[in-house]
Amino acid sequence: MTSDIEISVKDGTQILRLNRSAKKNALTSAMYAALADALEAGDRDERIVCHLFTGSGGIFSAGNDIKDFLETSRGSGALSGPIARFVRMLPRVAKPMIATVEGPAIGIGTTLLLHCDLVYAAPNAAFSTPFLDLGLVPEAGSSLLAPHRMGYVRAFEMLVLGEPFTADRALEAGLVNAVLPTADLEAVALKAARRLAMKPPGALLAARRLMRGDADQVLRQIEAEVEVFNKRLASPEAREAFQAFLEKRPAQFRAGPARG
Ligand code: COA
Repeated sequence: MTSDIEISVKDGTQILRLNRSAKKNALTSAMYAALADALEAGDRDERIVCHLFTGSGGIFSAGNDIKDFLETSRGSGALSGPIARFVRMLPRVAKPMIATVEGPAIGIGTTLLLHCDLVYAAPNAAFSTPFLDLGLVPEAGSSLLAPHRMGYVRAFEMLVLGEPFTADRALEAGLVNAVLPTADLEAVALKAARRLAMKPPGALLAARRLMRGDADQVLRQIEAEVEVFNKRLASPEAREAFQAFLEKRPAQFRAGPARG
């Protein structure tokens, strides 16, 4: 158990609060495990209608813990355990997932949202996926879901160029439903959850399953991503990027400027 994920239930909504603000809610293995356990348990529990992801300390999430990435890179070099379990579970979650985003949503903090059904953002929300700058590639099915959601060129701009999207840009790109005053986020999300709770439960699950499309296709893409991601994770480029972040210095990917 970790206190870095705070789980509570309100009006049939399972609230999953990322609660590691000293490290900007960067996700550790223990946090992935807690999230995966909660999603599984919530999906099984008839009293739970939907899951709600939210942040704390004015930030949604700084993405995967880079120290964990560095350790994996030096060790087995392969995503395994709780993070792999969490990512593979996302397309198989049965109940609606809602998210409220305040401040930065980085890496999996953004790609997770592609699996959510309703996303509400504060005006200061900032969505970014700096995978390439870390020597990595897009994950969590985002290489399939993002082009589908926002069109190829916008997805490329976000996932490959690493261009951060403001709340308004994310709204325009179809990543979020609405940009709302920060103070209203949770109330609006819970109101939507209560409306979902009024729907016939069987019809709600069936409609969501139809609308989310082929989960096996998303899973196949996740497996393809994991294969490439693991190779990248073990690469000297990624190791340098992780080390540089932790040492608070710019990464140095080339020996130096070529002279002629
Ligand atoms: N993994 C591990 N630690 C992280 C982290 C991450 N993804 N993001 C932030 N932290 C830690 C910092 O190392 C710092 O720790 P310290 O206080 O022990 O030095 C602490 O959280 C605060 O972060 P800091 O960078 O000082 O805060 P900031 O307000 O200046 O910037 C962010 C916040 C989120 C913009 C910045 O931390 C950031 O860019 N994080 C990395 C995001 C990223 O690349 N994630 C991986 C995506 S795949």
